[in-house]
Amino acid sequence: MDLEVLSDISYGLYALTVNDNGRPTGCIINTLIQVTSFEPIYMAISLNKDSYTNEVIKRTKKYGISILSVDTPREVIQRLGFASGRNRDKMGGIEYEDCNGLPRILENCTGFLCFDLVDHINVDTHDILIGKLVDTCVTDGEPMTYKYYHEVIKGKAPKSAPTFLTNK
Ligand SMILES: Cc1cc2nc3c(=O)[nH]c(=O)nc-3n(C[C@H](O)[C@H](O)[C@H](O)COP(=O)(O)O)c2cc1C
Repeated sequence: MDLEVLSDISYGLYALTVNDNGRPTGCIINTLIQVTSFEPIYMAISLNKDSYTNEVIKRTKKYGISILSVDTPREVIQRLGFASGRNRDKMGGIEYEDCNGLPRILENCTGFLCFDLVDHINVDTHDILIGKLVDTCVTDGEPMTYKYYHEVIKGKAPKSAPTFLTNK
C-alpha cells in the first residue's frame, strides 16, 4: 500500500478540553467529523487510548472543542499536543473561560462546541468517541487546517496522533 495517499485527506485543527475535577486540561486533535446533519447533531473524534483527556471524558462524559484559528501560536499546539495532562498543568498560560462547565479557549479560536459523550468504539490503539452537540459559540477568525499547520507553521504530529505516519 502506498500510504502517501493518506496525506491528501483534509482535516481541521482543534483543542479538545475537559474539566478534570475543577482542573482544566486537554489536548490537540485533528480528527473531528460531523456524523449527522439534523438535531441532535452527533460528531466523532478519534482519541488515543493512552490520552489522559480520553480518560477524563470517559469519567465525566463531557468535552469541549475549540476550533483553532490560523493565528494560534505554535507553542500552544506544542504544549497541548505533545505532553500528557496526567501530571502537568497544560492550560497554564492559555486564556480560557468556563462554558457549560468546560474550558473554552478565548484566544485565536473561531468557535467552541460542547458535547455530551454518548458512545465510544474500541478501534485498536484508539477509541472513536461519539458526542452529541449540546451548545455552540461562534467567534471570528480563519480556522486552521491540518495542511496549514504542516505547510505554514511547519508543525508535526506525535506518534499518538492517528495521522502520525503521514507527517511530512
Ligand atoms: C497536530 C496534532 C494533531 C493531533 N491529533 C490527534 C488526534 O486526532 N487524536 C489523538 O488521539 N491525538 C492527537 N494528537 C496527539 C495528542 O494531542 C497528544 O497525544 C497529547 O499529548 C495527549 O494529551 P493528554 O494525554 O493530556 O490527553 C495530535 C497532536 C498534534 C500536535
